[in-house]
Amino acid sequence: MCGIVGVVGSNQATPVILDALRRLEYRGYDSAGIATLEHGHVERRRAAGKLDHLASLLARVPLPGVTGIGHTRWATHGAPTENNAHPHGTERVSVVHNGIIENFEELRRELEAAGQVFSTDTDSETIAQLVDYHLQRGLSPREAAHECLRRLEGAYALAMIFAGHDDMVIGARHGAPLVVGFGDNEMFLGSDSLALAPLTRRIAYLDDGDWTVITPAGATFFDMAGNPVERPVRMTALIAASVGKDGYRHYMEKELHEHPVVIGQTLQRLIDPATRRVVMPDLPFDLAAIPRAVITACGSAFYAGMIGRYWIEQYARLPVDIDVASEMRYRNPPLANGGLGLLISQSGETADTLAALRGMRAAGQHIVSVLNVEQSTMARESDAVLGTVAGPEISVASTKAFTAQLSVLACLTIAFARARAAIDAAQEERMVTSLLDLPSKATEVFERHDEIRRMAAIVAGARDVLYLGRGAMFPVALEGALKLKEITYIHAEAYAAGEMKHGPISLIDSTVPVVATVPSGPLFEKTLSNLQEAKARGGRLLVFTDMAGAPRLREIAECVVAIPTVDEFVAPILQTIPVQILAYEVALIKGTDVDQPRNLAKSVTVE
Ligand code: F6R
Repeated sequence: MCGIVGVVGSNQATPVILDALRRLEYRGYDSAGIATLEHGHVERRRAAGKLDHLASLLARVPLPGVTGIGHTRWATHGAPTENNAHPHGTERVSVVHNGIIENFEELRRELEAAGQVFSTDTDSETIAQLVDYHLQRGLSPREAAHECLRRLEGAYALAMIFAGHDDMVIGARHGAPLVVGFGDNEMFLGSDSLALAPLTRRIAYLDDGDWTVITPAGATFFDMAGNPVERPVRMTALIAASVGKDGYRHYMEKELHEHPVVIGQTLQRLIDPATRRVVMPDLPFDLAAIPRAVITACGSAFYAGMIGRYWIEQYARLPVDIDVASEMRYRNPPLANGGLGLLISQSGETADTLAALRGMRAAGQHIVSVLNVEQSTMARESDAVLGTVAGPEISVASTKAFTAQLSVLACLTIAFARARAAIDAAQEERMVTSLLDLPSKATEVFERHDEIRRMAAIVAGARDVLYLGRGAMFPVALEGALKLKEITYIHAEAYAAGEMKHGPISLIDSTVPVVATVPSGPLFEKTLSNLQEAKARGGRLLVFTDMAGAPRLREIAECVVAIPTVDEFVAPILQTIPVQILAYEVALIKGTDVDQPRNLAKSVTVE
């Protein structure tokens, strides 16, 4: 997390950096800072809190110079104060850092013993002090940077400027993302290509361990050993206009309304509308030969994976294991030789998921990743990428990426089921048709907005909320509870509805609303019984269902939101949408910071 930017060229750097930081604020918003070079001197401005605080400071105390670096912070080591805000440095060097330096205490002890004077509690300052130490020994900036990089352990993306070198920025990456943007007589560094979208579409991606020296004339790239390397320049598909709020109050609201389009675009890539068949991209292995799959991901992406597991096991009869990536990476499970490692990630940069990917590759798995950012690190390390065509997701709470992930997983399920002869042509056509109907059905969900608002008014008054679902609706309940916790700070727990009687039922009274997702289908009656049990204990039932299930639920529930009835296969995709809208509506009532909830950041590139 944390976002970093670097600029070298002929225009004033500060406004360019500030604008790029706005596009990176989703990566952290605890503090922000910019440093520039002006007549050979390093100058910086920093402010605790959101980027607007830095912007007001810069309006009062401008920061001239055509070369500079900027940072928006998600605090790891050191409180989110102005003093701990980046850039860090001395009069000789200034550094911005995304990641964690694991050996910083050891380095700090060494450097302090050698006379370097630290002024913050951060691990990042160690980088600046180490470079400064080498500069004072007479090394050039390039040599000093390389010497420093050789000592760093942990994850980093870095940008550095040097006093007396007005036309140069040095960048480096190891375990955290960094891209180089090519302009006309100016060059850029950024944590992602989105940050640079209005500046350039010509982007080069650094490999892990690479470092680069950018000047107005271009970039030179080096590997960890200091050997020159070539990195190709690619055109990104991103355009600047794609990241506005388009008149919505929040990015989350905009992104919720993008569900129908995103589902449609994602399916378009994987379904041939003429034949109504799923068409997978070329995979470097045979789906029919996969003995077992392991799904891993974090947060919402993990819940999408849980639904994928229900589907693949039910329809393709392929055994699937699933675990959150932070557990999977250290669990060292025995994996079937030639099995499939299936990773799911919006950003493609999540540190735990990336580590799990590498572990699974080392254990002989074929690696397929379901990713939204198709130029991400995970994309480059996968055998195949199944893209979610969700566009940039700016709101920290994931919404549209989730239904896009489910759309991909549904197609993968069909491809597996066909390859394993677990479904016939008629069944495949029924499943594909149900998918192709989703975009229009998803649009109809928004007609239920008033009922969802009424439900939100009840949830907003609660301190604790219980979410319930069975089968593939259990992960939908988990997603609903996560979204509520994340953006409203109301405590929520999700349970498989059948588990309630094994403990959580003791929580239920009239102050703990029970939000259940109960569409019609084979598990309807079973879930209904669980709801009756909750009602008998004074629970207030707030239920998401479909038109077919609504009449029965209206007899027992206080609030019922009925969305279109769809095939059982695709119901989790559609049922997710109102559950996410509920969290958004509660956040509006509570007045929380919807797009940037406290303590969080998007793209979690630390362990
Ligand atoms: C929840 C949320 C997070 C992410 C998780 C994984 O709303 O956004 O739980 O789903 O951090 O991130 P990615 O998908 O980028 O790997």
